[in-house]
Amino acid sequence: MTTEPPIVRLTDLRLDRGGRSVLRGINLSVPRGSIVAVLGPSGSGKSTLLSALTGELAPAAGTVEVFGQKVPQDQRELLELRKGIGVLLQGNGLLTDLTAAENVALPLRAHTRLPKALIQRLVLMKLHAVGLHAAADAFPRELSGGMARRVALARALALDPPLMIYDEPLTGLDPIASGVVMSLVRRLNDTLGLTSIVVTHHVHETLPVADHAIVIANGGIVFSGTPGELERSQDPLVRQFLLGEPDGPIGFDAAPRTTTEAA
Ligand SMILES: Nc1ncnc2c1ncn2[C@@H]1O[C@H](COP(=O)(O)OP(=O)(O)OP(=O)(O)O)[C@@H](O)[C@H]1O
Ligand SMILES: [Mg+2]
Repeated sequence: MTTEPPIVRLTDLRLDRGGRSVLRGINLSVPRGSIVAVLGPSGSGKSTLLSALTGELAPAAGTVEVFGQKVPQDQRELLELRKGIGVLLQGNGLLTDLTAAENVALPLRAHTRLPKALIQRLVLMKLHAVGLHAAADAFPRELSGGMARRVALARALALDPPLMIYDEPLTGLDPIASGVVMSLVRRLNDTLGLTSIVVTHHVHETLPVADHAIVIANGGIVFSGTPGELERSQDPLVRQFLLGEPDGPIGFDAAPRTTTEAA
């Protein structure tokens, strides 16, 4: 086995927001080709963690490495890095007056100088990859929620990013559409040779496609292991989260218990 560096490596990471420590002591290694589920209650810091990967939020302590390199501070280097990270955010962010194909073409128009005909072919390939080849000329309002999410996914894939980041990809989708989107996440990951990080509180839809899961609560990682290990975990924090119980070791506002830092 070769000792390839992980696609993402977080070392003793601390992230602060508004002068408050949101996450601390975060260590995580994401191997190439894997899908990691990042689970945890609302406000626990899942989106904050993602913002450190894209360099939107600089670490208060520790390091964030993506593709074997420390996430740069320099804006130009940061833009280069971000081309390698496909991001699918909670809202689809589709432009309503553009067709599905035009939406998917946006990143290609913005970041490449490819001729129009080639862009059109690439766009159709991306739409084909999410099973929406036939919907190329449809406007977002003509698509179901699940279809619109898949168009947004095709757009996130437009520049062939080796790393995909999903923040709550299932919000607003029914169980069937959720299943379609999650199996698509797995299939794209494997056929395109990607690495994926999926932030979600949809535990039961996400675990079946994940290789590794972490649970964030009370300002840190309270579980890290395989989905099977997560389901068997007897940790009270993990049980409370998995069963969705309001009372337990996770505070209802899910704010980290310690707000002062002995930096
Ligand atoms: N821009 C900001 N300024 C100050 N505090 C922030 C900011 N963004 C988030 N926070 C705080 O950081 C903590 C973590 O927020 P974050 O959005 O990462 O949670 P989350 O786990 O993604 O929650 P959700 O599941 O609701 O999306 C919260 O206490 C939130 O109030
Ligand atoms: Mg969030």
